[in-house]
Formats: sequence, C-alpha cells, structure tokens
Amino acid sequence: MENISNQFGNRFKISTFGESHSNAIGVLIDGVQPNIFFDEELIKKLLEERKTSILKHTSSRVEDDEIEILSGVFEGKTLGTPIVVIIRNRGHKSSDYNSLKNLFRPSHGDYTFFKKYGIRDYRGGGRASARETVARVIPGALAIKLLEERGVKIISKVIRIGELQCKTGFNFDFEVDSYLKTLNGDSIGCIIETKIFGLPVGIGDPVFEKLNGRLSKAIFSIPAVKGVEFGDGFMFGFQKGSESNDWMDKNGFLSNHAGGINAGISNGNDIIIKTAFRGASSIPFEQKTLNIFGEEEIIKINGRHDSFFGFRVTPVINSMCAITLWDAILDQNKIEKEFISSFDEKNSKNVDNSKIDYKNELKRLRDEILDCDIDIFQTLSYRLEVAKKISDIKKRFGLLITDSNREDFLKNVIKELNLEIIPESMIDELYSVIFKYSKLIQKNIMEMQ
Ligand SMILES: Cc1cc2nc3c(=O)[nH]c(=O)nc-3n(C[C@H](O)[C@H](O)[C@H](O)COP(=O)(O)O)c2cc1C
Repeated sequence: MENISNQFGNRFKISTFGESHSNAIGVLIDGVQPNIFFDEELIKKLLEERKTSILKHTSSRVEDDEIEILSGVFEGKTLGTPIVVIIRNRGHKSSDYNSLKNLFRPSHGDYTFFKKYGIRDYRGGGRASARETVARVIPGALAIKLLEERGVKIISKVIRIGELQCKTGFNFDFEVDSYLKTLNGDSIGCIIETKIFGLPVGIGDPVFEKLNGRLSKAIFSIPAVKGVEFGDGFMFGFQKGSESNDWMDKNGFLSNHAGGINAGISNGNDIIIKTAFRGASSIPFEQKTLNIFGEEEIIKINGRHDSFFGFRVTPVINSMCAITLWDAILDQNKIEKEFISSFDEKNSKNVDNSKIDYKNELKRLRDEILDCDIDIFQTLSYRLEVAKKISDIKKRFGLLITDSNREDFLKNVIKELNLEIIPESMIDELYSVIFKYSKLIQKNIMEMQ
C-alpha cells in the first residue's frame, strides 16, 4: 500500500512528520541554498501567531511550540544540507480522546483514515489534526524571508466569520467575541483573503504546474479548507467576458479580475486568493455516527477544540503560499538560469531606475499603507473599548480614573521596544492624543448615572 504523501515541493522540498499526540512534530527541508540567514525570530513570530489563545477565540490547549534544530544550520546560517527541525508535543491530553477511541467523529478524518489504513492514531486526530501545520511555518518563514528580500510580500486576513463581515483582519474585535458567544459552543467557518504583492510576471509553468494550481494544492493541503478562488473566482460564473477582462495600458493593468494570474503564469498584478474554511467538526452536541464495528452510536465531543481557528491559520496560509512561490521561482530558474540573480538585481540598490515598474510598486505600497492605517484605527478602537471596560470597573469599585504612573509605565514599555524609526517625541505625542480620548470616554462613563 502507498504511504500517505507527506512531501511538498519540486526544488524547495519539505516533508513533515509526527502525529498530534506523538513525541514531536517536525519538518525536513531540502533544496535550500547555503549561507542563508536562518531567521529564528521570524519562525517564533509565526509560531506565536499560530498558537492557540483566548484572544484568537481558539481552544484552551497550551502549546509552547519551542523549536529544536537538529541539522542543516550552523552559526545561524543554512549549510545547504537537509534542515531538520522538530517541535515537541507537550500540551496534549490524550485522555481527552479515550471516549472517542472506537467512534468516528462526523466529518473529521477518523472514518476515512480507518477505512483506508485499517489503523489510526485516534489521539487528537493523528496526522489529520491541524497540529501538523505547526511544522509548515518553519520552511514557511524561510520562504517568506527569501521572498521579502526580493520585494514579494504576502498578507492574509480573515474577511468573514459566519454571518460576520470582518473589517480588515482585525483579530481582537469585540464583535467577533460577542458573535462567537451567540454560537453556544458551536464552531464556525470563515473566509480568509490572501494578497501577494510584488511578484514579477512569469512565475508558474503551463500546463500542469500552473501557479494557481500549485497555490490551490498548497492551500488545500491545510485541514478544513473547502474552497479556494482567485480574483473574482466563482463570480466569473455570473459575469460576461467583457466584464471579466483586465485591460492594460502603458502603466500596467487597469483592473484585477483574474487575481494576478493568466494561463497559470503570474502577470505582475497582485495575486488575490480567497480561501473558505469549514468550522471545526468536533462540537459538543449530540450527533449520529458509527463505531469502528459498524454500529450506530450517538457521539458528543467534549475536549479542547477550536470553536474558531481563522486567526491562527493565517500564518499557515502565508507559509504554504511562500513555500509554493519560492519553489515555483526555483523552477523558473531551471528554464532561465539567471532568473534568481536577475530577480535579485531588479530589486537591488544598483538597479537602473528607468526599468522599475514604479507605478505598480507605488500602488502596492499605497495599498499597504491603507492596510496599516486600517489596522491602526481598528486597534485604536479596540483600545478605547478596553478603556471603557476599565472605567466600568473603576466606577463600580470607586477607584480614581486617572493614573499617571500607569500612563508613564505604558510609554516606557513602548520606548523600550526601541522601534528604530519612531522617535521618543512621536511616542509622547501619540500617547497624549490616545490618553486624551481615553479619558474623555472614561469621564463620560463616570458621569453616567
Ligand atoms: C488551525 C486549525 C485548527 C483546527 N482545530 C480543530 C479542532 O480543534 N477540532 C476539530 O475537530 N477540527 C479542527 N480543525 C479542522 C480539522 O483538522 C479538519 O476538519 C479535519 O482534519 C478533517 O479534514 P477536512 O475538514 O479538510 O475534511 C482545525 C483546522 C485548522 C486549520
């Protein structure tokens, strides 16, 4: 019998291993050039984003996700040899799964794995568990870095959660919180939008290695993905050809219905992907199912499951996209030997300015600024909501509103971050505005009867 395929990539190759409750989950990465800075900080950042947390409305499982590099990296740089990294599974509680040993959780991988292999690790879902995706952010971080150094940036944001249309990727929105509470323990699906900026024209190979095909395969390898679309996607089914075409002039594309890919090859426009996720299938309600002996039973799944995992899956999507793009770029290199170096040259400081597609680059950067501003204001709105909550508590317990020590403390914490581009005076000025409006809100609350 064939094994489960655990490998991905033609030239930048990854193999992941480990089950949800085995000793460790890990990845073997091959095809990485020597002398590349192995950015552990970026890996940690992505792992942090993928972790469960109350703020992300996920399971109460605590996963410390510490990486151990077994090979392929020396003095912080890649050796050009296979890189193996593991993460020990520490936060699992296999006893949660005792009652599920002989039962098939509806719509999880239990039934299909058992029927296919005649054996399954029922603890935590084994290889079908999204725990496996922790291994992917390690090569993901490598590829993200390699791409970012060449001006390619990937950003993913949750844009829909059930009935909730989200503002741009705002993770800690109160609306999300209160919406999830209305579900009474049920799980919920979501749509994530991924935008890839700065990819040059020419990546992807016809016909069976089309870039949209490769990206779809990569994204569909993530558990619970049920749909992937590019650009206008399923809306094309409602449009006339004349409505779907992306016109061009000397400055580039005038629209982006295609989502940045024509005939399986990147066209230089932003790549726009939407991914639909189902909600976790493990829910605490009674459902009809079968046991491994073929008998009907009622199952109720109580354990530590994600009621919503949209926010924690974005680093996994970004990783899979980055791995795919870097692999496709290496394939491109195969037909155009100097591609990577010419790609590097185009992005290097000595570039001939007349050759830069500055209008597209400007548009991309402006889009990025807008995204940043939206995030800043949504975060500010969240901060004011929190300030409101604090005043409610202070009011209830008769405490003073203003606490200048606390204000100084906050300012100092931010100053100690040593954010290079932000002078201390800017921190002082921004905080004075923030404090002013926080106080106004708090004052209104205090004055309310
Ligand atoms: C980040 C992430 C976390 C998940 N957490 C859970 C979970 O806690 N419980 C669960 O039943 N399914 C969870 N899932 C979904 C299952 O892994 C998935 O539904 C299962 O493997 C079956 O595969 P399919 O939905 O692609 O058919 C999660 C998926 C992702 C991407």
